Amino acid sequence: MSKKIESHLSENRVFKPSREFSKKARISSMAQYRRMYRESIEKPASFWAREAKELHWQKRWKKVLDWNPPFAKWFTGARLNVAENCVDRHLTNGRKNKAAIIWEGEPGDQRVLTYHQLHQEVCRFANVLEANGVKAKDRVLIYMPMVPEAAIAMLACARIGAVHSVVFGGFSAESIVDRLEDSGATAVVTADGGYRRGKIVELKKSVDEALQKYKGVKRCIVYQRTGEKINMRRGRDVWWHKEAEKVSPSHTPKGFDSEHPLFILYTSGSTGKPKGILHSSGGYLVGSYTSCKYIFDMQDDDVYWCTADVGWITGHSYIVFGPLANGVTQVMYEGAPNHPDFGRFWNIIEKYGVTTFYTAPTAIRAFIKAGDKFPDRHDLSSLRLLGTVGEPINPEAWMWYYEKIGSKRCPIVDTWWQTETGSIMISPLPGCTPTKPGTATLPFFGVDAAILDEEGNECGPDEGGRLVIRKPWPSMLRTIYGDRSRYRKTYWNDFKGIYTAGDGARTDKDGNFWIVGRLDDVLNVSGHRLGTAEVESALVSHPDVAEAAVVGRPHEIKGQGVVAFVTLKEGVRAAKTTEKTLKGHVAKAIGAIARPDEIHLTPALPKTRSGKIMRRILKELVATGGVTGNITTLEDFSVVSNLQKNLKK
Ligand code: WT7
Repeated sequence: MSKKIESHLSENRVFKPSREFSKKARISSMAQYRRMYRESIEKPASFWAREAKELHWQKRWKKVLDWNPPFAKWFTGARLNVAENCVDRHLTNGRKNKAAIIWEGEPGDQRVLTYHQLHQEVCRFANVLEANGVKAKDRVLIYMPMVPEAAIAMLACARIGAVHSVVFGGFSAESIVDRLEDSGATAVVTADGGYRRGKIVELKKSVDEALQKYKGVKRCIVYQRTGEKINMRRGRDVWWHKEAEKVSPSHTPKGFDSEHPLFILYTSGSTGKPKGILHSSGGYLVGSYTSCKYIFDMQDDDVYWCTADVGWITGHSYIVFGPLANGVTQVMYEGAPNHPDFGRFWNIIEKYGVTTFYTAPTAIRAFIKAGDKFPDRHDLSSLRLLGTVGEPINPEAWMWYYEKIGSKRCPIVDTWWQTETGSIMISPLPGCTPTKPGTATLPFFGVDAAILDEEGNECGPDEGGRLVIRKPWPSMLRTIYGDRSRYRKTYWNDFKGIYTAGDGARTDKDGNFWIVGRLDDVLNVSGHRLGTAEVESALVSHPDVAEAAVVGRPHEIKGQGVVAFVTLKEGVRAAKTTEKTLKGHVAKAIGAIARPDEIHLTPALPKTRSGKIMRRILKELVATGGVTGNITTLEDFSVVSNLQKNLKK
C-alpha cells in the first residue's frame, strides 16, 4: 500500500432534505443528531439501554457492555427471543392485522402475510424444526429462493435457538459443501427451485450434489415452490408442507441469553477460505432495529422495500430482523430486476405504493444503461426515501437516482457497512444530514469511525488512510466461527483495540466519510465481496491449470469485473475452448457471481525473484494497458511485455 491513499474525488454539490421531509422525520435537525451522537459515544450504556428498552426482553440485562478487546458482550445476563421481537410483539401493539410481507414472485404471483399470519407460519416451522430433531445451537443451512419461507425459516431457527447459515441461492454446490463443513450443520432448509430471469434455479439439485460429499446432514426440509419433479431421498428429505400439516400453529418462545449465537454468514476475505461471520442475539437485534428505525426513518404507514437477497447481510439486517422488529410493511420480490424487462422494479413500486426503496449502485447503473423509458412509464410518486448499499456510488448514478427515481424530492441514504458490522455504520440520517453525491456522510449513533495512517495517527481532511472503528458497537461480529485467531488477525491486528474494516477512505472538511475501496485482495463485484484468492484456488482446482492470478478491473455496471491470468500445465494445449471451460469451472466452483469476465492464458506470470506473483502489475496492465512504477524486483521482464502484447490483441 502506498503511504497515502490518493483520492481524486471532489464533489461540491450539497443536497439537504426538504423542510417537509424533515418536519415529519424522527431526527429532524443536525443539532438533534449531534446531541444524540455525542451521548451515544460518551455514554453508550445509557444510550443503548434506552433503545433496547423498546424491544421485549424476557429478562433484563445486568450490564450493557462487557468489553474485553477484541471480544464484546452486549446486554449481559439478559434473555430474549429474537423471533418473538420480530413477530409476536406486533400481535399486541396494534399491528396484528397489518401486512408484514407483501410478496411478489417473478412469474407474477402474489401473497400477503399479516403479522398474525407470519406468526402462525413461524410457529409452525419452529415446531417442524423441533419435530425433525433440530435443537438450540444446532446449525441449519438455509438455501432458498426469495420467498417468504426464507424469512420464516430464519425466524423459526431464531425462535428455537438454532443457528442459521443462509447461503445465497446463486452459490454452487461446492460452496454449499464448504459452508456445511465449516459450520458442521445437521439440517438443511431448501426449495425444489426458484424463478430467476424466467428460468428455474434448481436449488434442490445443488443440495443433493453437496450432500453426496458432506454426510453430516440428517434432515433436509424442502419447500415446494415450482412443483418441478425433484429427487427426495427417503429418511433424509421431507416436504415443508407435509411436515407443517402435522404440527400446531402455536409455539412458546423461550428466552435465550443475549449472547446466544443467532447466525453465521460466510463472506470472502483475502485467503481462499470464506470466513464464517458469527453474530449473536441481543446486540445484533438492537443494532439492526435502531439503525432501521432512524436511517430509514421507519413510520407506521411506510411500505418499505429492500431489493437484496436474504443470502447477504443486507437481507438479514434489512429484510428480516430490522424491518420486522420495527413492525413495518415490506415488499419482497423473488426475481430479477430485468424480468420481463427493466421496468419490473418501477412497476412493483407503483403497484404497492412503495415509500422507501433500498438498492445497490450496480442495479442503478444497469437501470441507467437500460434507459429512462422504463421509469418514465411508471408513477413513482409514492416514494419518499431512497437508499444504496454495497459499494461507493459514483456521482452520475447518484444524480440519476436522485432526479429520475426520487424526482429531487427524496433524500438518498448512502449506507456504508459490512457483513461484520451487522448494521449500518456510516450513513446520512434522511431528515437532517446534508448529502453530497458519493459520500456515505457521517457515522451512525455509537459508531466511533476514524481514518488512520499507517502509524495509527488520525488523518486530516482529504488525507487518505484506513477506515477504523475505535469503540465496540452492539451488532458487531463476535468472532469468525471456529477461528478466534483469524478473527484477531483479520480485524484487530493493525492498532490495539481498534477494528480495521479493510477499506481505504478519507474525510472531507465537513467530516463526511468518502470510501475509496478495499485495501486487501478483495474485489467488490456488484456490491458483493469476492476474494481474489478464492477465484484463484477455484481455477487451480482445474486439472489443466498450473497457476492463476486474479485481479479486478473497473466495470461499467458491476463496479469491478474479474480478470484471470492462467498458466496451463506443461503439455496441455491452449485451445479456444479452454477459456470458456475455465470460466464455467469457476462458476461451478463458487457461483455465477465469480465467473471471470476475461481469462488470459499466459506461459508465465510476473513474479518477484522470491516467487511472489506481482498482482499490482497485472492490475495496472488490465486497467491501463501499461506498467509504471518499480518493476526492478521482477524476475523476468519479458513476461510483462508478452502480456502487454497479448492484451492489445
Ligand atoms: C464492503 C462490505 C454491507 C452490505 C453489502 C456488502 C463495501 C458497502 C458501501 C458504501 C462504499 C461500500 C465496502 C465494505 N461497501 N457499502 N455505501 N460505500 N463502499 O457487504 O459483502 O460485507 O461488503 O462493501 O468495501 O467493506 P459485504
